[in-house]
Amino acid sequence: MKIDVFEIDRPDREAFMRLQPEHEVRFCREKLSLENVDQSADAEAISIFIDSSVTRAVLDALPRLRLIATRSTGFDHIDLDACRERGITVCNVPSYGKHTVAEHVFGLLLTISHRLEEAIERTRKGDFSSKGLEGFDLRGKTLGVIGTGDIGKEVIRIANGFGITVLGYDVDRDEEAARVLHFRYVELDELFGSSDVITLHVPSNPRTHHLISDRAFAAMRDGVVLINTARGDVVDVRALARALAQGKVAAAGLDVLPDEPVIREEAELLRSVYERDHDLSTLLADEVLVRMKNVVVTPHSAFNTREAVGRILETSVDNLRAFADGAPRNVVG
Ligand code: NAI
Repeated sequence: MKIDVFEIDRPDREAFMRLQPEHEVRFCREKLSLENVDQSADAEAISIFIDSSVTRAVLDALPRLRLIATRSTGFDHIDLDACRERGITVCNVPSYGKHTVAEHVFGLLLTISHRLEEAIERTRKGDFSSKGLEGFDLRGKTLGVIGTGDIGKEVIRIANGFGITVLGYDVDRDEEAARVLHFRYVELDELFGSSDVITLHVPSNPRTHHLISDRAFAAMRDGVVLINTARGDVVDVRALARALAQGKVAAAGLDVLPDEPVIREEAELLRSVYERDHDLSTLLADEVLVRMKNVVVTPHSAFNTREAVGRILETSVDNLRAFADGAPRNVVG
């Protein structure tokens, strides 16, 4: 197979080199886009990461493509309907670091609860006063976990260690997990009204799009903390910016934003606004959130530990090999 691997730096290429000489592997540091897709016109398989947006237009330029192997759990950057119509198989890495992302959730939460960012900034400036840096304990608080799948359960496991009470919400309840992990399933409105901290672990899909909206914020406790490591569009960021400005939400920890790939590159930002690919008010809300003092933003890096990246590469190479051997694995859609 001719395999094109996108969004990949040199150290991570080694894993894919093992597919040679049986397969022809080419590497590209950039994400796959309409600008560079013509170079891959003969590719039969591609390995991509989350910034490569596989739209119909991109697929039109890849007539020989049979497999898309995304090196992520989420696959909302791939038009699955368009792939199905063209008979293209899509596979993902279903689980590579549930605890990796769960650890990041607590990294964000502790950064907020212990005001770590301001505290570190202060000592870097030579100021060793703790005045005005009062935070809050996690012990005894109630955590609402929306999405009790792999990552959500891992978050609950860690929360138990902190002495936090957990409420869960999921469309597909795992009552056995609730028993073992000592949490209670509730309806969404009860979770909103009873949680001091809310953390999101649902996939991005039409049902979860803007799950956290003005209506949701209105149902939440005053001074709630929101953590989002799931996907940016699960939260209406304009509503979040309003809720933060009104003090309804005390603080937010965000590893994901709806327009995160765009706001990394200004030229692309301008193009996307002119071509109406992105909504200007959402882009502006993203920008506002990044600059707010009570919002901690990380650049979609929750997955990014040495161990998790190693597992992602291994599974991705296995996915490519399995497909070539006629036994596709980890197929989605
Ligand atoms: P999972 O598939 O194990 O769990 C997702 C859970 O969400 C399932 O229990 C499912 O029933 C539930 N769910 C689906 N739709 C729902 C809805 N409308 N309302 C309530 N619950 C719903 O997935 P996992 O591994 O826990 O990952 C969750 C998400 O985290 C991924 O889809 C991905 O978008 C994101 N993620 C983010 C990473 C990062 O680096 N920030 C890394 C890995 C995943």
